[in-house]
Amino acid sequence: MPTRRRLLPLFSLLAALPLAAQSQADVVKVGLILPMTGQSASTGRQIEGAVKLWLAQSGGKVGGRKVEVLVKDDAGVADTTRRLAQELVVNDKVVALAGFGLTPLALATAPLATQSKTPMVVMAAATSSITEASPYIVRTSFTLPQAAVSIAEWAAKNGIRKAVSLVTDYGPGNDAEKFFSDRFLLNGGVVADKLRTPLRSPDFAPVLQKVRDLKPDALFVFLPSGQGAQFMKQFGERGLDKAGIRLIGTGDITDDDQLNDMGDVALGVVTAHHYAAAHNSPVNKKFVADFQALNKFRPNFMAVGGWDGMRLIFKGLEATKGAGGDALLAAMKGQMLESPRGPILVDAQSRDIVQDIYIRKVERVDGQLHNVEFSTQKQVKDPGKLK
Ligand code: DHB
Repeated sequence: MPTRRRLLPLFSLLAALPLAAQSQADVVKVGLILPMTGQSASTGRQIEGAVKLWLAQSGGKVGGRKVEVLVKDDAGVADTTRRLAQELVVNDKVVALAGFGLTPLALATAPLATQSKTPMVVMAAATSSITEASPYIVRTSFTLPQAAVSIAEWAAKNGIRKAVSLVTDYGPGNDAEKFFSDRFLLNGGVVADKLRTPLRSPDFAPVLQKVRDLKPDALFVFLPSGQGAQFMKQFGERGLDKAGIRLIGTGDITDDDQLNDMGDVALGVVTAHHYAAAHNSPVNKKFVADFQALNKFRPNFMAVGGWDGMRLIFKGLEATKGAGGDALLAAMKGQMLESPRGPILVDAQSRDIVQDIYIRKVERVDGQLHNVEFSTQKQVKDPGKLK
């Protein structure tokens, strides 16, 4: 005869079963694929920190249902991103995919988003054409043409006549080079040379020597997040700052993640971008304070793309009561949010972000290096889609 003592665990297990099934149905899953290791690990660390912050601030629930974010590390390798996305959609039944730290990782996943009708929120990658790779993509980061056109106009108006461009040789670098040089030429400037470095393990010494010899008024640079500090060090070591060559670029090179450690060589560098940790607004002051309290490091533009992206998913899920697919996509299109960067809109037609672009100069503020914004271009649509 089974004793009462032996039966109890069995009963409690049976009693717990429907409950477990119930709570499983109450969970909405979101897949977050990031480079947590490898060359772009700072992008993953920033976005993960921002998503953690949003989950803490929101209570991690929509309409009484828990939102579970499954974080996967693709190490910046496109085949891995695609495989992880497949597993998240097929096995975990996520309602949305998010993250995408580099352009090739987003492009590799786009066909899966289309086939499975899974909304895909691009929080980092910034090549203009990404949103055209699948009708299920929405973007909360930025596009390189948004930043490159703004700095080209600023340069032409501020005494820079002869420039050289230097970009990383892949999607966003192509965009930065093309949109900088086209707009700079249109405004009367000359681009004396267009230089490129590889995405993996770049060596800046040979190109910097070339720039020195060309003696431009300014060097325009785009490098992906994480490469700015090494570049800035070599720019200083080769004495280009002392040779009177101004450094300008997209804000990726004065990335707030690394800026404070770059030293005096970064002072005075002028860039165009959509976010600075020093952005002066109540929403941003709270964002930076809460982010630093939780993560112990300064948020950069990747963090803002991650925070806004997760808020966008939550807003969408509130409207669909937790459903994914076409309903979630429709609910995210056309959303307006007050972001730490300023007002943003997810354009309903292009599914791309419309946002203010700021011209900023690196200055020392209270002993810390910051991108200090001094001029604003309001609500910039991606110039890459205007043709
Ligand atoms: C991309 C990656 C970055 O780190 C960045 O700063 C800009 C663009 C990209 O691969 O799209």
